[in-house]
Amino acid sequence: MGATQDNRSCLRRHRWKISLLVLIVVAAAVVVPLVIVKPWDKNKSNNSTNNSNSNSNNNNNTNPPPPVNPSQPIIPSHNDTAKANAYTPALDQPFDYQGGSVKMRGVNLGGWLVLEPFITPSLFDPYIPNGVVDEWTLCQHLGLDAATKLLDNHYNTWVTEDTFIRIRDLGLNHVRVPIGFWAMGNLVAGEPYVPNLSWKYLVRAIEWARKYGIRVQVELHGAPGSQNGWNHSGRLGAVNWINGTDGATNALRTLPYLQQMSTFFASPDYAHVDPIMGMLNEPNAQVIGGDKVKAWYQQALGVVRTAGGGTGKGPWAVIHDGFLGLSTWAGFLPGADRLMLDTHSYIMFDDGLIRMNQTAQLEFACKTWGSDITTSTKAFGPTMVGEFSVAVNDCAKYLNGIGLGYRWDGTFGGGKPVSPNATCVGANDPTTYTAEYKQFMLNFFNAQVDAWEQGAGWFYWNFKTESNPLWSYFDGVDGGWIPKDVNNRGPSFCAANGYPVNVVNSD
Ligand SMILES: *[C@@H]1O[C@H](CO)[C@@H](O)[C@H](O)[C@H]1NC(C)=O
Ligand SMILES: *[C@@H]1O[C@H](CO)[C@@H](O)[C@H](O)[C@H]1NC(C)=O
Ligand SMILES: *[C@@H]1O[C@H](CO)[C@@H](O)[C@H](O)[C@H]1NC(C)=O
Ligand SMILES: *[C@@H]1O[C@H](CO)[C@@H](O)[C@H](O)[C@H]1NC(C)=O
Ligand SMILES: *[C@@H]1O[C@H](CO)[C@@H](O)[C@H](O)[C@H]1NC(C)=O
Ligand SMILES: *[C@@H]1O[C@H](CO)[C@@H](O)[C@H](O)[C@H]1NC(C)=O
Ligand SMILES: *[C@@H]1O[C@H](CO)[C@@H](O)[C@H](O)[C@H]1NC(C)=O
Ligand SMILES: *[C@@H]1O[C@H](CO)[C@@H](O)[C@H](O)[C@H]1NC(C)=O
Repeated sequence: MGATQDNRSCLRRHRWKISLLVLIVVAAAVVVPLVIVKPWDKNKSNNSTNNSNSNSNNNNNTNPPPPVNPSQPIIPSHNDTAKANAYTPALDQPFDYQGGSVKMRGVNLGGWLVLEPFITPSLFDPYIPNGVVDEWTLCQHLGLDAATKLLDNHYNTWVTEDTFIRIRDLGLNHVRVPIGFWAMGNLVAGEPYVPNLSWKYLVRAIEWARKYGIRVQVELHGAPGSQNGWNHSGRLGAVNWINGTDGATNALRTLPYLQQMSTFFASPDYAHVDPIMGMLNEPNAQVIGGDKVKAWYQQALGVVRTAGGGTGKGPWAVIHDGFLGLSTWAGFLPGADRLMLDTHSYIMFDDGLIRMNQTAQLEFACKTWGSDITTSTKAFGPTMVGEFSVAVNDCAKYLNGIGLGYRWDGTFGGGKPVSPNATCVGANDPTTYTAEYKQFMLNFFNAQVDAWEQGAGWFYWNFKTESNPLWSYFDGVDGGWIPKDVNNRGPSFCAANGYPVNVVNSD
C-alpha cells in the first residue's frame, strides 16, 4: 500500500520522453524467450477437499479452517451463478468495467499473502530486536522451516470463509488480493522468501469468493528486486527493478510470473471469478523513470494478452500510475485491450493535505480527487482507486515503517508536528473517538466514494488490521464511520454539500 506521494502540482509538471536506453532495454527484453511454466497442477482428482469447515453466517470464526493440504488440489466448483448483491451482476454475467455503469466496490485483502508490519504487528514484534523490518528480513531471520510454519498459520487464519461472508454482507462486490512473486516459486539464490506456499491459499479464497459472488483482482505487489523499495513490496531498501545493477534482469524476471497469472486467470475455471488482474503495484516511477515504467507496462500487457489467449480474452489488466499523477497517463496506449488505470489516494502521506482542516479535506476529496478521476476516465479510460482510507493522520503503529515515527506528531523524518500539540496518543483507540470525529470520517468516506465512483470504482485499504482501526473497513462499520451497506449510502455527500461531480479538470 501507500507510500509518500509528492506534492500534486509538482507531479503534474513531470513529463517524460522516451529515451534510447529504454528502447534498447525493451528490444533486448523482447528477444529473451519466456519460459512457460505451469506450476499449478490443475489435474482433476477424485479426492474432493473440504475447503472450509464453516458454512454458517457466523462472522466471528473462532474455529479456522484446516490448513491447505498441498497434495490435494483445490477443485474449482464451476458454479458461477452467485451474485454478491442486487446491484452487481452474477459472476457468469458481464461486469461493465468499460462503461462503468456498475462500480467496483471492494476491499483489499492486505497483510495476508504479502506481509505488512502495520497490518499485523504481532508477526513482527518478537523479531524487531533482531532487525526484522519486512517479509524478507523476517524470513531471513527465521529460516525456511520456521518461516513456513509462521506463514502457513497466518495464511490459514487471516482470511477465512467468514471474511467473504462479511464482505458480501456489507454490500461489496470485489476484493483486491496482493501477492508476491514468491507465491509462484522460481526464486534465485539468496532470496529468503517462502516459495510456493501462498498460492494454494489464494486458490482456496477464490473458491470462497465464487461461492458468495465476489469478483477477485489478484495483483502482483512484490516483484523481484522490489519495484519501490518499500516494506510492502516484501523488501525494504533499494529499488533494484529496472533501476539498479540487477534491475534489467529483475524486470525481465517479473514477466513470466505475469504470464503464469494470466494463463491461470484466463482459464474457464477462473475467468468469471477473476476477471481483472493487477500487473504491478506501485512501481516507483519517480526513481525509475516514467518512460521506463511505461515501456515495461506495455511489454507486460503484451505478455498478459498472449498468455491469456489473445485480444479480447483473459483478464482485464490494471496498471498503477507510478505516482506520476493521472494526467501523465492520458492517451497511454490508446485503444489497448481492456486496460485499467489505478491510483492510490491518501491524505496522511502528504505534508500539505495532512495539515488541511477537515472542511478543506472534504472539499479536496469532492473537487480535486473527483475531477482528477473524471478527467482520467475521459483522457485515459477506465480509472479506479485501488487503495484509500478514512485516516487523516499517520498515527497507525508502524504505518511509516518500523521505528520511523509519525508526521502527525513530528517524530517522522525530522518534520514538524501538524499543530503544536498534535499527539498520536489515543489515535488508534476507537473508544476515544468523539461522535463528531466519527461523523467526519463517515463524511470523508462518502466524499471519497463519490469521487472514486466518477471512475470505475474503489478498494478500501484494508479489510481489517490487528490494531489500526482507521485502516480497517470492518472496524469502520463496527464503529459507525463506514456504512453498513455501501449500496445504500443515501444522497451524494459531495452534491448535497454543493461540490459538483463529474467535472473535468481545466488544466
Ligand atoms: C467434508 O464435508 C462433508 C460434508 O459437509 C463431510 O461429510 C465430510 O466428513 C467432510 N470431510 C472432511 C475430510 O472433513
Ligand atoms: C469473537 O470471539 C471472541 C472469542 O470468543 C470474543 O472475545 C469476541 O467478543 C467475539 N466478537 C464478536 C464480535 O462476537
Ligand atoms: C450454485 O451456486 C448458487 C449460489 O451460491 C446456489 O444457490 C446453487 O444451489 C448452486 N448450484 C449448484 C448446482 O450447486
Ligand atoms: C515452486 O514452483 C516452481 C514453479 O513455479 C517450481 O519450478 C519449483 O521447483 C517450486 N519450488 C519449490 C521449492 O517447490
Ligand atoms: C512500509 O509500509 C507501509 C504500509 O504497509 C507504508 O505506509 C510505509 O510507507 C512503508 N515504509 C517503508 C519505509 O517502506
Ligand atoms: C537505483 O540504483 C542505484 C544503483 O544503480 C542505487 O544506487 C540506487 O540506490 C537505486 N535507487 C533507489 C531509490 O533504490
Ligand atoms: C479551513 O481551511 C480553509 C482553507 O485554508 C479556510 O478557508 C477555512 O476558514 C478553514 N475552516 C476552518 C473551520 O478553520
Ligand atoms: C497546547 O498545550 C498547552 C499546554 O497544555 C496549552 O496552553 C495550549 O493552549 C495548547 N495549544 C493549542 C494550540 O491547543
